[in-house]
Amino acid sequence: MRVKILLSLVLALLFKTIAAYSNGKIRSACESLKPEHGYSSSTDPPPYKLTVNSSKFSPGDQIQVTLSGATFFKGFLMEARDFGNPEGGPVGNFTVMDSAKSQLLKCGQGSAVSHTSAGKKMEIRVLWNAPENSPPVVSFLVTVVQHYNVYWERIPGPVISQSGVVPSLPNPTAVTDKGQATPSPLPPQPFSSEGCGKTKSCLRDPAGCVPAGGSPCFFLSFSVEGEAVLFELSGPADGYLSFALSMDKWMGNDDVYMCVRDGKRVDVSAAYLRGRTHPENIIQGALRDVAWSWSDGVMKCRFRRGIYTPQSPGRFLLNESYYLFMAHGPTNNGKIHRHDCQPLISTNQKVISGVPEDLTGSRSPEIMKFHGSLMLIAWMTSVSAGVIIARYFRDEWPDSALFGQTVWFQVHRALMIFTVSLTFLGFILPFVYRGGWSRRAGAHPYLGCVLMTLALLQPIMAICRPPPDSERRWMFNWLHLSVGTVAEVIAVLTMFLGIHQQALRLPEPGSTTVLAGSIVWGVAARLLLEFHSRGLLKIGTSNSTDQEAILSGQPGQSVRDDKGSQFRKVVLTVFLCGNIGFLSVLLYTINNM
Ligand SMILES: *[C@@H]1O[C@H](CO)[C@@H](O)[C@H](O)[C@H]1NC(C)=O
Ligand SMILES: *[C@@H]1O[C@H](CO)[C@@H](O)[C@H](O)[C@H]1NC(C)=O
Ligand SMILES: *[C@@H]1O[C@H](CO)[C@@H](O)[C@H](O)[C@H]1NC(C)=O
Repeated sequence: MRVKILLSLVLALLFKTIAAYSNGKIRSACESLKPEHGYSSSTDPPPYKLTVNSSKFSPGDQIQVTLSGATFFKGFLMEARDFGNPEGGPVGNFTVMDSAKSQLLKCGQGSAVSHTSAGKKMEIRVLWNAPENSPPVVSFLVTVVQHYNVYWERIPGPVISQSGVVPSLPNPTAVTDKGQATPSPLPPQPFSSEGCGKTKSCLRDPAGCVPAGGSPCFFLSFSVEGEAVLFELSGPADGYLSFALSMDKWMGNDDVYMCVRDGKRVDVSAAYLRGRTHPENIIQGALRDVAWSWSDGVMKCRFRRGIYTPQSPGRFLLNESYYLFMAHGPTNNGKIHRHDCQPLISTNQKVISGVPEDLTGSRSPEIMKFHGSLMLIAWMTSVSAGVIIARYFRDEWPDSALFGQTVWFQVHRALMIFTVSLTFLGFILPFVYRGGWSRRAGAHPYLGCVLMTLALLQPIMAICRPPPDSERRWMFNWLHLSVGTVAEVIAVLTMFLGIHQQALRLPEPGSTTVLAGSIVWGVAARLLLEFHSRGLLKIGTSNSTDQEAILSGQPGQSVRDDKGSQFRKVVLTVFLCGNIGFLSVLLYTINNM
């Protein structure tokens, strides 16, 4: 069934100067109810309110509508609107009760009421005539001007429904996202993080940040007030801020609450997220006391909703436990776009109406942390060690064997099998997480696929290699070295792109520095060993002895180059210590994201 009943009564009082509109003939504001002058709507709570003498009506009925305030006002513009289509223009005609103070304005299909002069008024009474073809639910809206530069735009008034009409969930896809009664503005003070974990639950990014502070802070708090929960959401956002309740850590089947900026206004709405697509907007009576503000690039919104929502069965019950998602992103014409960074997801499930807790969360899904860690272990450390062993340690340990093979070969093979296995495991994870190919990850996934292919090619070539004395052996050696080197270069590029991916964005510039440091460290170690092996570094015995040892082809009998061997082992040890240091820093960073 459709809750297609929005009756809005809007009073817009528009003054370029008070003289321009002091006669109340402000038809230009009929549609928008916005005063088109240089000032903006007050952010203080409005001192005025609308009341009706009945919340039910039948076509042809007259409903008395009263605008009253704690203080005087000079101008106003009041309208009734279809609750299900509040931007559809005024609904029904009014009858003025005091033509000295109020007058009718013809506005589209219906009429609006405005002031006749700029005289101070305390109260206005008018009658609204329910039309024969009235929408089932109608809301009233009013814009009130106190002084020419002090006014409140679109103060939401009462919502009335036709007798016999049961307001219910609308067809979710058929409803515009402007279906919410206009909320009232919030005072400009930031929300308070005081009481987080004591009187209310909070989810903050960065952890423990203060919304009042100078640095960006995304802030969600909720506290139980009897049968309702008060939610406050704020953060630096130009487009939208939202949070969602979810049964799992995946997007989809979530209960979403959104604050979406539309010009100078912020629309607060609740929606249902079926999949990883646009939310389906649902109008419901479940959000109460909606208030918002948007200034200096910081958006704030606040609302209450019942723990139980019998009147809107689409909403989740707040006595159950959920993961909380917090997201922000751009909008285009009031339509939300995909978030430009991953949503923050609470570490644990939380009973919304439960005891206050200071919650923690992460923007990086666990599965992507595993991906990053596996790839870094494989391509920062394991592969480098494997290459160094194969290239510079072939003559080491000539007298010992490991499981019937030379030591260097066994170590090399073990490290490379380890590398390929980690790569394969790490390669699958993003596909599992995304449920397919990610079009927004740039070159990283393409390079990753090339790397995976090369990494698989290496063991296949190694298995098919010709025996050591074969004439074609040089081809294998050459291919194995080239493919390996290309793979290493691609791996470096992929890692640099990887640490900037949305789903695992490591802190900058620190992470790039650490990764670059580890690359330089590895290159330095290899250069040192390379120079040494070519005799350019005179450590250990003389060049000629090396030559002799190699030429003799009998390593066991050759003159042992003890000092050179010691040098290589020292370089390897120092390299490994530094490399593992760099790796640990990155793994630690990932683990703490
Ligand atoms: C509301 O006021 C109008 C006009 O005075 C009257 O006709 C109508 O019966 C009133 N409705 C109720 C429910 O009192
Ligand atoms: C009331 O509004 C309707 C359109 O909704 C218009 O056709 C009609 O003339 C108006 N009635 C009066 C009495 O102004
Ligand atoms: C939450 O409330 C509903 C309705 O009152 C009830 O059916 C459900 O068991 C409650 N859940 C928990 C976890 O208490």
